[in-house]
Amino acid sequence: TGLTTFDPGFGNTASCRSDITYIDGDAGILRYRGYPIEQLATQSSFVEVCYLLIHGELPTSDQLAAFNDELRRHSAVPSGLRLLVDTCPGSGHPMASLSIAASGLAAFHTDNADPEDPDQVETATAQLIAQLPKVAARLYRNSTGKESISSDLSLGYVENFLHMLFGDEDFDQETKELYARAMNLLLILHADHELNCSTATVRVVGSSGANLFASVSAGINALSGPLHGGANQAVLEMLTEIERDGGDVDRFIAKVKDKSSETRLMGFGHRVYKNFDPRSKEIKKLATQILERHGRDDKLFELALKLEEIALNDPYFVDRKLYPNVDFYTGLIYRALGFPSNMFTVLFAIGRLPGWIAHWREQHAESNPRIARPRQLYTGPAKRDYPGHG
Ligand code: CMC
Repeated sequence: TGLTTFDPGFGNTASCRSDITYIDGDAGILRYRGYPIEQLATQSSFVEVCYLLIHGELPTSDQLAAFNDELRRHSAVPSGLRLLVDTCPGSGHPMASLSIAASGLAAFHTDNADPEDPDQVETATAQLIAQLPKVAARLYRNSTGKESISSDLSLGYVENFLHMLFGDEDFDQETKELYARAMNLLLILHADHELNCSTATVRVVGSSGANLFASVSAGINALSGPLHGGANQAVLEMLTEIERDGGDVDRFIAKVKDKSSETRLMGFGHRVYKNFDPRSKEIKKLATQILERHGRDDKLFELALKLEEIALNDPYFVDRKLYPNVDFYTGLIYRALGFPSNMFTVLFAIGRLPGWIAHWREQHAESNPRIARPRQLYTGPAKRDYPGHG
C-alpha cells in the first residue's frame, strides 16, 4: 500500500503545528498561549481567555472593552433560529439542538458565512460566542418547562449567561457571586485542549473549506459522545446508579476491572495526561467549596471521593496510569448549581467555543492548508465477481 504508519485513534500522529495550547501529559501541565491554566482559572475572565486564545495575546483594557462590545452587538439570535430551537422537543438532547443552532447561524446570517472573508470570520466568531449561550439558556428553560428570560446586556458575559438561566430564582448576592465565579472558572478550564476529538473534528471539517459555523457544529456533535464531553453526564449517571445499587463502591470497581463487563470508570483516564489532569485539581477544589455551601446530593460527592481514593490505590488503575480527568467532578458542580444532567455537555461546549474557533482560524491562516484525508489499511474481500441473477 505504500503506507508506513498504522495509528488507530491517531495516538501518535501530529497532524498540524499549533501555537495555541501546550500540554505536557507526564508533568500535568496545561498552558493557553504560554499562560498556566491555574493562573488563568483563578485570575482571568472567560471573555479575556476567549480573546487570548483567538488572537494570541492578552487584550489591553481597551481591546477587552471593544471585544465585549462586539459580543453585545452580535448577540441577537435571529428570530427564525429561536423558533427552530423552540421546535425541538424539550425531551430531546440539548446537544443535538445546540449543533442545529450552530449550523443554523450560517443559514440565518447569510452574509457572514464566507470563510475567506476576514471581516465575516470576525463577525461569525462574535456571533458564535455571543449567541450560543443564549441558545443554551433557552434550551435549559425549554427542557425544564420554564419561560425563557431575555438577556441583560448591562451585565458581564458570565453574569448575563447566569441571568438567562436562573434570573427568576431568588438568589442572594453571595450565591450570585459564587455561581459567577464557578461558571467563569469552569468555562476557562474547558476553553481549549489542543487536538482533542472535537477540536480535531473542527479542523478536519474546516480543512475542506467549510465555514466556521459548519465546523463548530461538527465539533459540538463530536463532543457529545460519552468518551469525550458526554463523560460529565455519564459520571453523574454512574454515581446515581452506584447509589441506587446500595452505594457499594468496591463492587463497582470490581465490575470495571472485569473487562467482560465493558464498564469504564467514567471521568477517569486520558489520552495525554498520564500523571494527573491539572484541570481536575482546580475543579475538585471548586466542587468541595460549592458542595459545602450549596450541598445537594452530598452522597454522590462522597461516592466520587471514595471511588477516586480506591482507584488511585488500585494496581489496575495505577498500572494503566488512569487518573480523574476534567469530567470527574464537573457534573457534581453543575448539579449543585441546579442543572439537569443533559445540560452538562452543553456547558462544556460553551466553554470550548473559543478553542474550536482559535484552531479553525489558525488552520485557515496557513498559507497552504492541506485537506485532512487519513489513509486506511483495507481488510475486506479481494476482488470477486457479482454472481448475476441467471
Ligand atoms: N476505566 C477503566 N479502564 C480504562 C479507562 C476507564 N475510564 N480508561 C482506560 N481504561 C483502560 C482500557 O481498558 C485499556 O486497558 P487495556 O490496556 O487492559 O486494554 C487502557 O486503560 C488504555 O485505555 P485506552 O482506551 O487505550 O485509552 P485511550 O487513550 O484510547 O482513551 C479515554 C482515553 C479518555 C477515552 C479513556 O480513558 C476513557 O474511556 N475514559 C472514560 C471516559 C472519560 O472520562 N472521558 C473523558 C475524557 S477527558 C475530557 C474529554 O475529552 O472530554
